[in-house]
Amino acid sequence: MALSTPLILQAVSPLYLLAGFLLSTVVYLFVQSKRANLDHIPGPTLAKYSNIWRGYRAWRLNHHTEGVNNYQIQMIGQYGDVVRIGPKHVLVYDPEAIDTIYGFRERLDKGPGYKVFVMTGTDQTALVSIKDEKTHGMYRRPIAHAYSLSSLKGYEPYIDQMIEKLIGELDKHDADGTPINMTRWLQYWAFDVMSKISFGEPIGFLDHGDDFNGMIQAQRENFRYISVANNFPFLDTLTKRNPLLKLFKKKPSMFFTFARRVVSERLAQATKDPESQSQGGRHEDLLGSFIAARKSYPLMTDIRITHITATNVLAGANNSARAMDATIHWLTAHPEAQERLYSEIKSVNMSAMKEAETEGPAALELALKMPYLDAVIQESYRQFGAPANNLERLVGDAGLTLPNGVHLPPGSVVCMNAASMSMLPHVFGQDARVFNPDRWMQQRGESDEAFHERRWRMQRAMIVFGHGSRSCIGKNIVQLELYKIWATLLRIYKVSNYGVPCPVS
Ligand code: HEM
Repeated sequence: MALSTPLILQAVSPLYLLAGFLLSTVVYLFVQSKRANLDHIPGPTLAKYSNIWRGYRAWRLNHHTEGVNNYQIQMIGQYGDVVRIGPKHVLVYDPEAIDTIYGFRERLDKGPGYKVFVMTGTDQTALVSIKDEKTHGMYRRPIAHAYSLSSLKGYEPYIDQMIEKLIGELDKHDADGTPINMTRWLQYWAFDVMSKISFGEPIGFLDHGDDFNGMIQAQRENFRYISVANNFPFLDTLTKRNPLLKLFKKKPSMFFTFARRVVSERLAQATKDPESQSQGGRHEDLLGSFIAARKSYPLMTDIRITHITATNVLAGANNSARAMDATIHWLTAHPEAQERLYSEIKSVNMSAMKEAETEGPAALELALKMPYLDAVIQESYRQFGAPANNLERLVGDAGLTLPNGVHLPPGSVVCMNAASMSMLPHVFGQDARVFNPDRWMQQRGESDEAFHERRWRMQRAMIVFGHGSRSCIGKNIVQLELYKIWATLLRIYKVSNYGVPCPVS
C-alpha cells in the first residue's frame, strides 16, 4: 500500500495538472474580462476574454493575402461605433471622438502596445513609444524645429538631388528598353531621401540598384512583427527582448554602423568648429539641427542623437514608400488619370521653374498649386493603410466619456485604427474602398461651402499621421517628398502596367 499511492499519483497527476491549468486559465480570463467593466460594449465574443483574437486577426492580414481589408475595416458597421476588441481594449470608429481620445484636453498616455516600438539593444527612448505626455514633451521639444515648415526649404535641394538620380536610372532603362520595377525603385528612393535629409548622405540604394544590405526587407519584416506583437506586449518581452537571446545576437546591422560612423564624424567636426553649431543658423540636415540642439538641451547626448537620426529613416522611409506604391498601382490602372495629371502639371506655370527647360525636379511651391495632384496624394494616404498598429491610449483615473455617451472606465485601452477610419462610408462615400481621387475635388453642382464642408469632414476623419501632440513629426517632410516626386516624374514619364516608363512625347 505504501508504495502504490505514489504510483497512482504519478499516473494521473499530469492529467490533473493539465485540467487544473486549463481551469485556472479559464477562470483568470473570465475574471479579468469582468474586472475590465466593459460588458456594455459589443464585440466578438472571444475578444471579450483574450487578446489572442485580435492578434490572430492581425496575423491573418500578414500571412494570408487579405490586402488592406484588415479586421478593423471588416468590422465597420458590424458592432456600431464602439467595439470591444480585447478584455480591456476598445476600438472607436466615430470621427467625433478623435479630439476626445487624442486631443490636448485629455492628454491620455500611450497604451501598452507601443512597447514593441522600443528598439532592442538600446536604452534610448523612441519618441513614438514614450508613454506619458510630460516626458514626451521633454524629448520632442529639442527636435521639433528641424521638422517645421520653416526648415523644409533647406531639405529641398537634397530631394532634388535624389530625384535626379532616380531620373538617371529611369532614363537608362528607357534607353535600353528594359522594364523597371517602380515599387522597388521608389523604395530605394524613399530610403535614400530619408537618409540624405537625416544624415546628409544617402544609404546608397539608388547606386546599388538593390536592397544591398537587407535593410528594406528587415523593415518590412519588422512592420509585420509589430502589427502582430503590439497586441501581445508580454510576448514581445519574452521573445524580442529576452536577455537570453542576446547570446545569439547578430552583429550590428550595416545601417547602424553607417549611422554611427556619420554621427561621430559630424560630432567631431562640430567640436572642431563650434560656430557651425550656433542655434540661430539654418542646418542643412536633421543631424545638423540635432547637434546644434545640444547647446540648449543636455538630454541631446551623442548616443541620443545617433538614435533619433537613425530611427527617422526607419520610421519615415517605409511609410512614404508604401504611400507612393499606392499611387503607382493606381496610376498604372488608370492611364486617363495620368493624362489628367500630366495636363495639370504642364498647365501650371512651368516657365517659373528654373528647371523647366531641363525637365529637372519641380519646385515645391509649384507642385502645391496642383489640385488634382493633391487629390491623388490624399487618396494615396487614405488607401495605403498605415500604420501597422491601432493608435492605443490608456484611459486615466477619471475614466473617459466618448461624444456618443459611452463611458470607458479607468484602465481601459481606447484606440482608433487609421486604415479603417479612412474607409468609413458615411464620411468618404459608398465607394470608400475604391481609389478615387475625385472625391477630393469639387463636384459639378456642388457649392463652395458644401465642398469645403465635405473635404473638411474627410480630412478630420483621416488619422493616417495620427492626431494631437503625438502625431507624426515627419508629416511635412513626407509632403515635400511626394508633391515633388510626382510633379516631376509624371511630367517626364508615363507608367504602364508593365512598369516600363517611357518619356511623354
Ligand atoms: C507617409 C508617411 C508617414 C506616415 C503615414 C506616418 C505616420 C505616423 C503615425 C501614425 C505616427 C504615430 C501616431 C501615434 O502613435 O499616435 C507617427 C509618428 C512619428 N513619425 Fe511618422 N509617418 C510617416 C512618415 C514619417 C517620416 C518621413 C518621419 C521622419 C522624418 C516620421 C517620423 C515620425 C516620428 C519621429 C514619430 C513619433 C512622433 C511623436 O511621438 O512625437 N514619420 N507617424
